[in-house]
Amino acid sequence: MSRRPLVAGNWKMFKTRAEAVAWCADLRAGLAEADGVDLAVCPPATALADVAAALAGSGVGVWGQNVHQAESGAFTGEISTGMLAEAGATGSLLGHSERRALFNEHDDLLAEKVVACLEAGLEPVLCIGEMEYARDAGSTETILDGQLRSGLARASAEQIARITVAYEPVWAIGTGRTATPEMAQEAHAFIRGVLRDLAGDGADGIRILYGGSVKPENAAELTAQPDVDGALVGGASLDAASLLAIAAAARP
Ligand code: 13P
Repeated sequence: MSRRPLVAGNWKMFKTRAEAVAWCADLRAGLAEADGVDLAVCPPATALADVAAALAGSGVGVWGQNVHQAESGAFTGEISTGMLAEAGATGSLLGHSERRALFNEHDDLLAEKVVACLEAGLEPVLCIGEMEYARDAGSTETILDGQLRSGLARASAEQIARITVAYEPVWAIGTGRTATPEMAQEAHAFIRGVLRDLAGDGADGIRILYGGSVKPENAAELTAQPDVDGALVGGASLDAASLLAIAAAARP
């Protein structure tokens, strides 16, 4: 099955509202470069509504970086799926490695968040990836298998077919060290195999993005791999031109 490439930018805790809106204008001006590629951006929550308004009608997706699993409640500092959707988001990252490492997010919690998103009509983008010591110990597949099966434990096969997965090896995030195309393909093919076990043929339509030091210079060889369906880009997405160059490199 051919999957349309998807390139998403994760701004993390960068950009004011004014900077975000200026970025959107730059992106819109160059959208023709990304013809044939789906685009999405994950602004900080304060800029989400501005970005959704600035990108309205462009076809570019707007995602949260994180969301709470409850519909509402006494959860100071948190944002619900309904609030994200109302601000204009169509999906949310879940379980980014920084959330796992710095905010103690674990697979059981993510399983609740996946279903909360699906039930609210938001696309869950489940982030998984091994730490360097795990790769060195030869446990990459065990880690990925566990993160997928636990994170998707509450979702039905039909729901799993509607998610996106991002494979982000932790040692490649913000380090300038990318996985080689062969390493990425090996991990992505393994991930698709687990998804097939969980969702049957639905797994063929699930997009699996690679993340970790993706740049315009290395995007073509990574996204050329058969099971690499696009990229989740951190640092290089802060510049609209460089996100567009990555999207251009991912064109089929
Ligand atoms: P970098 O592209 O800065 O390595 O970040 C990757 C990432 O964490 C995207 O979610």
